[in-house]
Amino acid sequence: MPPVRIDVEYEVARDRLFRNIERKGATAAHPELGHSVHVEVEGLESGRDYWYRFRAGDEISQTGRARTAPATGSTVDRVRFAVCGCSHYEEGLFTAYRRIAEEAFDFVIHTGDYIYEYRADGGQDGISVRQHRGNESYTLVDYRNRYAQYKSDANLIAAHASAPFVVSWDDHEVENNYAGDIDEKGTPPELFLLRRAAAYQAYYEHMPLRASAFPAGSQLRLHRRLRFGNLIDLSVLDTRQWRSDQACGDGNRTDCAAALDPARTMLGAEQEQWLFDNLATASARWTVLSQQVYSFARDMRASDPTGRFSMDKWDGYVPARDRLYSRLRETRAPNPIVLSGDVHQHFGADLKLDFSNPKSETIGAELTNTSISAGGDGSDVALNWDQIKGDNPHIRYHSNRRGYIACTATPESMRADFKVLDAVTRPDQPVRVGGTLVVEAGKAGLQT
Ligand SMILES: [Fe+2]
Repeated sequence: MPPVRIDVEYEVARDRLFRNIERKGATAAHPELGHSVHVEVEGLESGRDYWYRFRAGDEISQTGRARTAPATGSTVDRVRFAVCGCSHYEEGLFTAYRRIAEEAFDFVIHTGDYIYEYRADGGQDGISVRQHRGNESYTLVDYRNRYAQYKSDANLIAAHASAPFVVSWDDHEVENNYAGDIDEKGTPPELFLLRRAAAYQAYYEHMPLRASAFPAGSQLRLHRRLRFGNLIDLSVLDTRQWRSDQACGDGNRTDCAAALDPARTMLGAEQEQWLFDNLATASARWTVLSQQVYSFARDMRASDPTGRFSMDKWDGYVPARDRLYSRLRETRAPNPIVLSGDVHQHFGADLKLDFSNPKSETIGAELTNTSISAGGDGSDVALNWDQIKGDNPHIRYHSNRRGYIACTATPESMRADFKVLDAVTRPDQPVRVGGTLVVEAGKAGLQT
């Protein structure tokens, strides 16, 4: 793009053919923001479909479908949403995004790792069906080019055009397993924050975020609360920007005392208080927390005696998890459902006040989505699954295939269909239901 301001017109219609235009207007795409535009359209009708498109010069965009949320507190019978994440361009085709598009969800939750920052052929897992362009991303231009490459994928375009996205980031939008201002390479924090600022700006430019998320230096406020009638109260969390550094040097650890230090935080004090206030006022049927790393305990002692717990997850921030679960219990926030991603495996888990005691109270359920493509084709179950399942009876479903979760919320139940694809190294594979778990309203815990 030339470094000049470009006028962009937009239209929002009540029908796919734009016969009935609800709103139209003009805005400017500035080179300072990578020629992105962020239009916030006010005054639309609640709980209905709209279609939108853009025009710049002689170019008209494809048409996207949006769906407004039902009015806060209104009676809603049913909401369907997808939970997905971890779309590694090199390690697999984005077929799962195509299957999401075909389901025309009310909205799509993305739990992060929308891009991977690695250089060409830098996939962690040695799988490469296609290549990143360029080196590892460090600068604003690097990150912009990476988004441009990902967003040229026809399956991803189709997913965005099918439904609104509720996005949140994990680590790879910046750098693997970073924590706050600490990266994996021992870079001085003030230098890493320059990289983080570039990555956050590119994220803002390329994602459907409101002006309230406009980056301020190296910070960007990502946590936010969304309501869907009287059915869902959704808190979107950010478990990367404000967290303490991983305990005991990260990795998998046994007997890491620092993981039990109550001074360490996953959300940061301000976001934690904001969430705890949300929980005290949650009144919809389902209290949903969308975040990145799994919150349940995953004890791997049988497969790795010296690496029982992953320090990057809530297992490395045990008092922070205890504070969250205690708060869920004390506020009686209705029917808690925690969403997560990051690990490239599906899990459905009961959330226990004390994971070391199977008889301990169940205070909610967690649904962890596998990856869109990261890790390649995968396998029916992970290599360590047979060893770890006995030590983790709260885990009720597991798959090591690629895919997403299709959730259906009604006043009576939250149903999770774990969708899987048998291959992402061959194009256009079908999707199937690998397993289904249901939470009945008023009964904590997952039913098969
Ligand atoms: Fe990932």
